[in-house]
Amino acid sequence: MGDALQIDIVTIFPAMLDGFLGQSMLKRAAEKGAVRFRVVNLRDYANDRHQTVDDRPFGGGPGMILKPGPLFRAVEALRSPEARVILMTPQGRRFDQRAALELSCARHLIFLCGHYEGVDHRVGEALATDEISIGDYVLTGGTLAAAVVIDAAVRLIPGVLGAEGAAGQDSFCDGALEYPQYTRPADFRGMKVPGVLLSGDHGEIEKWRREQAQKRTRERRPDLLA
Ligand code: ADE
Repeated sequence: MGDALQIDIVTIFPAMLDGFLGQSMLKRAAEKGAVRFRVVNLRDYANDRHQTVDDRPFGGGPGMILKPGPLFRAVEALRSPEARVILMTPQGRRFDQRAALELSCARHLIFLCGHYEGVDHRVGEALATDEISIGDYVLTGGTLAAAVVIDAAVRLIPGVLGAEGAAGQDSFCDGALEYPQYTRPADFRGMKVPGVLLSGDHGEIEKWRREQAQKRTRERRPDLLA
């Protein structure tokens, strides 16, 4: 087993997670050192005496919206360079087993759990790296949804379950080698950077990188593809 996966959960209902994280598979995963949990109360990052985390929507309408300030400050306090910052929202990408596998390969996950009517749009735009929905229904808040995602991801970390749960995970995490990377100058002693990387065409660049990663893996580590 490698280093522990750091999982931070930012919520206004930290107590909702006590039983969940303290039982069964997740408890054992933490005891084994596969994962480390930090439950963070969003109110600790409010900046007023009343620990306000929500406010009325601009333009009017029902309910309350989570303010950007406390969420930004919480993430800035918790973040590491490799952190994925995941906003739980019914507007997010639909969660599935493949997404669980991908998250189980990460080094650091920070879950932002909304509540009330919603979360200020700037959190999704400028703070979160991912937005995840667990299904086409609306829960009262994102804490329960984060718990579902965490359960599905942690059980896929090698060594957490028996061989059964780990099957396929290594090949997913290490399924392909990295594509070649370049920085300036574009021409170094006659060695040129591939033109596609200078083209600004992000679709073509993505395609090129995928092909290069596969080519490299075939040439250098065919065992990974077996
Ligand atoms: N918050 C409320 N409903 C949700 C859902 N379906 N998925 C993720 N977060 C949510």
